[in-house]
Amino acid sequence: MSSHIGNVLKQALATFANKGTQKHEAFQKNLEVLISLLDKTTAEHVNFPMRYMNPQLWERPEKAPVSCIEIFEDTHVTMGIFILKPNGKLPLHNHPKMHGLIKVLAGKVEIISYSINTEKTKEIDQKSLIDEMPLNPKPRKHNIVTAELNEVTIATSDSLPCLLDPNFKNIHEIHSLDGPAAFLDVLAPPYDFPISEFEIRKCSYYHKLSQVTTNIFRLQEVKSPSWYWTDSCPYTGPELFDIELH
Ligand SMILES: [Fe+2]
Repeated sequence: MSSHIGNVLKQALATFANKGTQKHEAFQKNLEVLISLLDKTTAEHVNFPMRYMNPQLWERPEKAPVSCIEIFEDTHVTMGIFILKPNGKLPLHNHPKMHGLIKVLAGKVEIISYSINTEKTKEIDQKSLIDEMPLNPKPRKHNIVTAELNEVTIATSDSLPCLLDPNFKNIHEIHSLDGPAAFLDVLAPPYDFPISEFEIRKCSYYHKLSQVTTNIFRLQEVKSPSWYWTDSCPYTGPELFDIELH
């Protein structure tokens, strides 16, 4: 028997598993269907443990500031739930060459996103390359990225899913507002799988190094912040092992 979350997963696989062989229009159409299914997804559909919405649970001294519920992962798609403590956050991080969709299940979040490789960032990188060339012919540091700040998004379970792609809103931080918050996260392809023969898709963390001009910042890669760690909670929603994979 199919469940709503099973249908979300099937659609995510239909969208992303064959991305390389789909025409752009077919991919966009699949993505739209996925967004509309995610839009209808609620905490009940994944049997989200509502005890996490009790602020007292987060006051235990040994409690991680973020809990994760892993729902599914293969080489194409990963799906899970992130739960943030009251006034908590996911540190600024990237999603290298990935798509991501966020649907809030409980509470309220603020998403601060940056886009990369925009017209403005490319123009600034081009200009600084020329400006620096005579004095400093060394190549640019790999761990600094020029990024354009997008409008801040506030989202609750009533909000549309939030989308990021390999350039648009690819770097973000997510805060919980007014108490704990939980969101469903669909990522494609998953972290830690190869991008190429020589490169693994790793999650990098950043801090804001400097502002270049209005809404344009240089972000510097940093180690995972010491205040950030996660614990995991088992998934207790509808079983998904019988999903007919592509
Ligand atoms: Fe993220």
